[in-house]
Amino acid sequence: MAEPTAAEVAIEAVMEKPVERGEPILQVRNLEKYFPLTQGILIKRQIGAVKAVDGVSFDLHQGETLGIVGESGCGKSTLAKVLMNLEPATAGQVLYKGEDIAGVSGRALKAIRRNIQMVFQDPYTSLNPRMTVGDIIGEPFEIHPEVAPKGDRRKAVQDLLDVVGLNPEYINRYPHQFSGGQRQRIGIARGLALKPEIIICDEPVSALDVSVQAQVINLLEQLQNEFNLSYMFIAHDLSIVRHISDRVGVMYLGKLVEIGTDEEIYEHPTHPYTQALLSAVPVPDPEGREGRERIILAGDIPSPANPPSGCRFRTRCFKAQERCAVEEPLLAIPEWFRGQDTPAAHESACHFAEDVDVVGAKGNGANGSDANGDGGETPEA
Ligand SMILES: Nc1ncnc2c1ncn2[C@@H]1O[C@H](COP(=O)(O)OP(=O)(O)OP(=O)(O)O)[C@@H](O)[C@H]1O
Ligand code: SF4
Ligand SMILES: [Mg+2]
Repeated sequence: MAEPTAAEVAIEAVMEKPVERGEPILQVRNLEKYFPLTQGILIKRQIGAVKAVDGVSFDLHQGETLGIVGESGCGKSTLAKVLMNLEPATAGQVLYKGEDIAGVSGRALKAIRRNIQMVFQDPYTSLNPRMTVGDIIGEPFEIHPEVAPKGDRRKAVQDLLDVVGLNPEYINRYPHQFSGGQRQRIGIARGLALKPEIIICDEPVSALDVSVQAQVINLLEQLQNEFNLSYMFIAHDLSIVRHISDRVGVMYLGKLVEIGTDEEIYEHPTHPYTQALLSAVPVPDPEGREGRERIILAGDIPSPANPPSGCRFRTRCFKAQERCAVEEPLLAIPEWFRGQDTPAAHESACHFAEDVDVVGAKGNGANGSDANGDGGETPEA
């Protein structure tokens, strides 16, 4: 076997580095993933690009769950695939325990891949129907035999079945012999096989019945505590994301537009897009529904191949003004909230961010202050 390069040796040393709970384990900086749009049959010419992920930055901390929400096509799965190294990034950095993983190859890349695993959306199509559950869960050991040497594999797979709440005797069954919830448990067991530190869950419960969703979410939470896992949890359903997440990031057309703790995002959203998404979440409590107004977003999500100038949300934003078309708002704590002891002081990419109580969480459904303090810059909805 070839001698490891200096970069590989350095990365392997980093892999061993313990990370304290709460420290960043993954740092994403200005990450971009553009898919080229080409024309022509024999000679292909690039005529543009789908900007699926366009300058996304965030930290994932050890032991936390970061929820990612946003409408279909906003780039959630692409972001996950780039972090998993299933797609190469167009630009930007991904730091794993402080080390840039771009350009890493060979053994070092294999080692990082081992530590970042994924659980996919559809338990019906993501499991090979011709393989037994034992082979599906044990497949990662073929690439990483050091985790479970050949003689120990059956026992390792049975232990994993037990950990995810399935009978270890089911090891020789096929995927079609399981229900949707059980299949997702198999997917989770496979994700855990290599003892990863990070699991990226891409809509892990969207394809399941509501009654089964809670069981799978509870299992994920239990496993997180047991193995000190860090999760990135992608979903459409804002209620589920709130239930499981410590922090939440909201994506729109390839960009993160707001990020904060679950309290900051759900009770003090300052970005109009987050406010619109939250206003559509059903509230079971009739008192909470009182005085609540649904914000209807006009039009469809624009094409990521040709995003609007300035703020990408402006074509659907009920607060848009001229400035929004010419100046792109950056994801930062709005100036007028900086230094204030308020949950509204979190990162939001809006020129006119204001704390609005969309779900009536602060009582009476009353809105927050006139955040930009100008007494009237915000236009009528
Ligand atoms: N391989 C690809 N080639 C070209 N465009 C792609 C490719 N993969 C994704 N896209 C485009 O990138 C954008 C983001 O897609 P992505 O699947 O990441 O969205 P998503 O937020 O996961 O959506 P959903 O909620 O429906 O799963 C979409 O416009 C999609 O059409
Ligand atoms: S910057 Fe303008 S268009 Fe964008 S979200 Fe804020 S108000 Fe709306
Ligand atoms: Mg997706």
